[in-house]
Amino acid sequence: MPLGSISFIQILFLQPIILYQNCIDQNRNDCENHGWSLPGNVFDCSGNLIIGNYILDQIVEKTFEIPPHQLLRFSVTFYKIDSWDSEGFEVSANDNIIFKKILADQDGNQNLCGKTTWKDMPFYYEKEMKISEFELKIKFQNHLDQGLDDEQWGFRNFTLEILIPCVDFYEECNYQGQLFQICQGDKTQFQSEIPFEIRSIRMNNNTVLKLRGPQYSGGNTQQYTTSQPCLDSYKFPKVVQIE
Ligand SMILES: *[C@@H]1O[C@H](CO)[C@@H](O)[C@H](O)[C@H]1NC(C)=O
Ligand SMILES: *[C@@H]1O[C@H](CO)[C@@H](O)[C@H](O)[C@H]1NC(C)=O
Repeated sequence: MPLGSISFIQILFLQPIILYQNCIDQNRNDCENHGWSLPGNVFDCSGNLIIGNYILDQIVEKTFEIPPHQLLRFSVTFYKIDSWDSEGFEVSANDNIIFKKILADQDGNQNLCGKTTWKDMPFYYEKEMKISEFELKIKFQNHLDQGLDDEQWGFRNFTLEILIPCVDFYEECNYQGQLFQICQGDKTQFQSEIPFEIRSIRMNNNTVLKLRGPQYSGGNTQQYTTSQPCLDSYKFPKVVQIE
């Protein structure tokens, strides 16, 4: 082992990694302070609090910071309330439409809330995906053409989580230059060659990265639990262990 190198690296990926969760139970304060682009109104819909009263072409969106990953998942329960007239609901991720649903006035089994004339319908949606950007903008939009006395939509139970987390190692400070990625479950155990000296590390806050080197901090193990935009120059390990 060359002098100045790091002899050991260990990555512990702690689960679950929930980036954001909102209005999943009966906590009104949590439902009201959701941070999406339009506040809406929080009301009880047959035993569930929902964020609703969205009408016409109103867009509800939110942008999330996304750590390195192989797979993420978001899930949400939407509510069709009252008389949608074969109108279309859309979900977009970074401005690409990934889900469309068209529902008609009598879709749904029972009247849950809103006007009593029409049936209502919750519909659960979940999507697993990998994005290359470090931001994800989720956008909900319906194309309704009447007012609250006739039709609206709402949502609750939103969760965004990382299913397969990664750690990104970069050749330059501020996450620039060549990238080397290690993800949970990678089979690089004990013998992964990292092709360059590492200057920055991007990771999520639920991962514990341990490094040790004979000439680094007196040979003590260094532990990182947040991203490191610029490390002092040091030689990177030639030995990798994943847990
Ligand atoms: C709420 O979301 C979870 C996933 O986060 C899902 O398993 C559950 O079925 C949802 N509940 C409702 C009532 O849609
Ligand atoms: C992770 O930790 C950093 C530094 O403490 C903080 O700025 C950031 O908001 C955290 N991110 C998440 C998703 O919790």
